[in-house]
Amino acid sequence: MSILLPDPHREYLTIARSVGIDPEVAKRIQIPIGKGVAGEVFQRRQATVGQHASQSADQPARYSTDIYASMPLVCSAMNETEVTVGVLNVTERYDNKPFSSAELECLNLLCSVAGCAIHDALNRRAREEARDSIVVALAQLAEHRDDDTGKHLDRVTRFCVLLAEELGRSEKYRAVLDDAFIHDLQRAVPLHDIGKVAIPDSILLKPGKLTPEERVIMQTHTEVGTRTIQSIIARTPGVSFLHMAEGIASGHHERWDGNGYPRGLAGENIPLAARIASVADVYDALTTQRVYKAAMPHERALQIIKEGTGTQFDPEIVQAFLTREGDFATLAKELIDTPAPAPAAPAPTPALTPELAAVSA
Ligand code: C2E
Ligand code: SIN
Ligand code: SIN
Ligand code: FE
Repeated sequence: MSILLPDPHREYLTIARSVGIDPEVAKRIQIPIGKGVAGEVFQRRQATVGQHASQSADQPARYSTDIYASMPLVCSAMNETEVTVGVLNVTERYDNKPFSSAELECLNLLCSVAGCAIHDALNRRAREEARDSIVVALAQLAEHRDDDTGKHLDRVTRFCVLLAEELGRSEKYRAVLDDAFIHDLQRAVPLHDIGKVAIPDSILLKPGKLTPEERVIMQTHTEVGTRTIQSIIARTPGVSFLHMAEGIASGHHERWDGNGYPRGLAGENIPLAARIASVADVYDALTTQRVYKAAMPHERALQIIKEGTGTQFDPEIVQAFLTREGDFATLAKELIDTPAPAPAAPAPTPALTPELAAVSA
């Protein structure tokens, strides 16, 4: 059994889920829409039922792959009211008997339910992706004042992913730092300094050292950020990355020993994502030039972070940093600030969301 879905341009079908097909083979299959049995079924929004083995022998050219050349076969379009969503293929019965009309009726019903469910899931995914990219774009816009190349957010996010992946190897964090955590982390980290929008230029862009009064104002960026994200959460509850973003915005300047701001939280009372972001943010602040300071070499930054073990930083996260420090140095070089902004990379093809996996399973 397989479910085939079109690519975003609706040019070809690929296997989204299958049972009984070698996954390696399934991955490579691409059926142009309008070609082959599945491609035609998709285009015509109808079903094809092939009941006898001889049919496939007679018409081998109709099949883009011999996987579908087996009989009996039902290939049925999954339709939503207006669009064809995909194709369901059922073939190779164990008993090799033709499909009964009751079975065909059942498959037909299944296809209409699945068509609506998958259509909803895809719409939902499109909305979520739009929402996430708007949020990240806003964060980049906010960051633009003191980071004109925009690479700071990108670097800090990737440093966080490095740390989360490394930490996720440990027994303690294996269950917590899963793919879903990292998915949320990539969206949440760019929001960590969103509260800096409320800091006046005279402080944010001050070339020299801040006075104690200015420092107090500067530190409010954590609370402003927290409140901003809380107000988004109030309007769109249940979005897990926003909850993580709230924890990062409020906790990324807390210290392991409790001497940080804004709340003076200590140890594991600081959300894990914030403890990770703290190491990543400071490494980036140290190794790049800021309006108020020059960049320092990797080795010196390494030393400072080591010295912060157990005082400023969570020792386990520093350990993860030390294990991957070579990757930090490489990534820092790769994403170095240059005056001209680099062209945006093409968006990767998104994988199935958990929701979609659930409906197609
Ligand atoms: P930022 O520039 O992104 O720095 C983030 C954090 O990196 C700092 O948090 C601090 O923990 C660490 N850090 C940065 N530079 C150094 C350094 O030279 N040595 C050490 N040991 N740590 C460093 P912090 O201090 O809470 O500052 C938060 C934000 O406040 C900074 O973000 C920056 O935007 C602003 N800021 C802090 N100090 C100054 C300053 O003297 N002048 C100006 N104009 N802004 C400052
Ligand atoms: C959406 O509106 O796209 C869904 C919001 C959510 O994920 O809770
Ligand atoms: C997403 O899945 O794109 C964001 C996370 C969520 O909706 O909870
Ligand atoms: Fe900050």
